[in-house]
Amino acid sequence: MISVNNRTFHLQGKTYCYVFYVSPEGYLLNFHYGKHLPPADYAAEAGLLLEPYPQLRGEPMRQNLSTWPQEYPTYGHLDMREPALEVENGFGNRITELRFREYRILKGEAAAPEGLPGVFAGSSPCDTLQITLEDSALRLEVVLNYIVFDDSDILVRNAVIRNRSGVAVRLTEASSFSLDLPIRDYEAVSFSGDWGRERRPERFALHQGSSVEIADNTGRSTRWNNPFVMVCTPESNEEYGDVYGFNLIYSGNHSTVLAMDTANHLRIRQGISPRNFRWDLAPGASFATPQSMLGYSACGFGGLSRAYHAFLKAHLMKSAFVFRKRPVLINSWESFYFDFTEESLLSLARTAKDVGVELFVLDDGWFSKRSSARSSLGDWCESTEKLPQGIAGFAQKLREIGLDFGLWLEPEMVSLDSDLYRAHPDWIIRVPQAEPVQYRFQYVLDLTKPEVLDFVQGTVCRILDSVPITYIKWDMNRMISDVPRPGYVHEYTLAFYRLLSALTEKYPGVLFEGCASGGGRFDAGLLAYCPQIWPSDNTDAMMRLKIQYATSFAYPVSTICNHISAVPNHQTHRVTSLETRANVAYAGIFGYELDLRRLTPEELTQVRSQIETARALQPLVLDGDFYRLRSPFETNECAWALVSRDASRAFVLCSRVLAVIARNRYYDPRLCLKGLDENAVYRDVLHGTQYSGALLMNRGIVIDYPVEDFATYCLLLERI
Ligand code: DGJ
Repeated sequence: MISVNNRTFHLQGKTYCYVFYVSPEGYLLNFHYGKHLPPADYAAEAGLLLEPYPQLRGEPMRQNLSTWPQEYPTYGHLDMREPALEVENGFGNRITELRFREYRILKGEAAAPEGLPGVFAGSSPCDTLQITLEDSALRLEVVLNYIVFDDSDILVRNAVIRNRSGVAVRLTEASSFSLDLPIRDYEAVSFSGDWGRERRPERFALHQGSSVEIADNTGRSTRWNNPFVMVCTPESNEEYGDVYGFNLIYSGNHSTVLAMDTANHLRIRQGISPRNFRWDLAPGASFATPQSMLGYSACGFGGLSRAYHAFLKAHLMKSAFVFRKRPVLINSWESFYFDFTEESLLSLARTAKDVGVELFVLDDGWFSKRSSARSSLGDWCESTEKLPQGIAGFAQKLREIGLDFGLWLEPEMVSLDSDLYRAHPDWIIRVPQAEPVQYRFQYVLDLTKPEVLDFVQGTVCRILDSVPITYIKWDMNRMISDVPRPGYVHEYTLAFYRLLSALTEKYPGVLFEGCASGGGRFDAGLLAYCPQIWPSDNTDAMMRLKIQYATSFAYPVSTICNHISAVPNHQTHRVTSLETRANVAYAGIFGYELDLRRLTPEELTQVRSQIETARALQPLVLDGDFYRLRSPFETNECAWALVSRDASRAFVLCSRVLAVIARNRYYDPRLCLKGLDENAVYRDVLHGTQYSGALLMNRGIVIDYPVEDFATYCLLLERI
């Protein structure tokens, strides 16, 4: 709900409250972001706080922007801190000063930023506050959007910058939002990583007078740093404390700056990374920044995560699959890599069908001369050596077996050794003065060229129109280098969204899964189109405990794809039991990525029952609440629970990485569950035991782990 009291704007979400006001000089200043405050005119009260030096030699000295909590600070006036906006103006300098001009309140959500994904109201009410700021000397206008959802603790902000003057200006930095939080001790949590170890939470203290930038400039959102960042008070934990989250709905270069001034005020700004960015605004033109989702929880990281999970599913992810049953799949990659024949694929498919798999995904290696990563990207015609009747013939054979067909594509790429590159060497991203950088023997196609975008779109449509495909795995295996001009990565990102949005709209019945060398593009922008994303090429169950646990801070488990792979694991060489691998994989979109034909009959029986379990658990995965119970980053254990929204069912995974003393349970910590009904009685249908909700939550239980390394223990609780 949005209310305005004189010059104070009051935004009230489900539990948070966000208040800012217009100062007498016309600056837009933050007053409060946190727990509830009643709507009122806070401007006068706030004004008193802004006068560190009320008098200087008898003269009132009010204007001290460098300490004021500005909602959208600019470079060059008296605020010397981190700006949200930097503009090279027609006078050749960068001085910009924005003052309040007007506001309006829209029913519903502001339109998505042009060319970018955006949030929507869905079935619950939301309103938008639009504040217009203006530099009247430059005739530069900035519209700040605040989208407030009554049922959510996520506030969505972005900025639209418009040049109303008669001369061109150049943006060199345009953040989606800026936020100044009051004096307090703060810590931050970022999610950095690399191939096979994606999104590791890193908690650190923010220090007076210093600033930290969490950014990724690889052209994909998340190779080194995810755009999701949290800020909290030092005492905050999973359940308690003030926690803020900031996540950008964007898949390109991004940056979040956390800057603490010398008095411990914290400024946070987030948006497109300013590195190698610039955007020219002709007279009359405007630039829309991506939306940022600001989250607040007074109930620690767990509360914040659940707010994001619910919000993404209800207000950002457009796919019809968001709450729809997902197929249990087998993926060919770790079974065969590039080395397969149609017969080997089909024999795997038959075994897979026999144990209950529904979808066969043919990964890399099916097209042209692709027998290694060295060639053929861009030549999207099937290898008739491997598939004599092409993918259509193969799909038909799968259908006869009773399986749906899914296909891997890497549409944004071209191999150096490909007919496409030989025909169109000018279609790749490159600079004139240097040889383009090869990575995995491939280049990135320049999607900003209309003919290239048309080609890529046409190719994917041709495949989808000619073959009954129900699932696409959309891969992207290299970063963007050889960036031809500042701002190019944003142009590329817009083109990428144009492509993805056209395809997902044209083929709503196809399940699109995002992927980028594992989890190199796991972000909210991609989730707007792809309801699920491959989080990592590391399929080792013990590593997955960490990757899935960490990913869940920002993203719902229904977006995380988990495949059971072979042992010794191909990435870590670790051997874990089939049971452990499945138990870890249940909290997500479940599938297999191993050669099932090599399993013993007993193991296949086990797989059959795992698939039945996964199916039974799917409603919890798609629509349940996720609770992190024990962190694998801090302990030798990991535990989490999926709880139905009415608290009538719960699935709990506990894992102990290394075995400890077998002699007795004296040293075992109790595990307290969360989210259940204290007054109910639950039966653990896996072990036939019965507990009260109060006991499970308030006293906790000792987990009866098998005494072995990489052990897991699950509970499936049903309210009686
Ligand atoms: C990277 C992906 O993450 C893998 O799952 C697989 O699809 C390979 N690419 C294929 O090249």
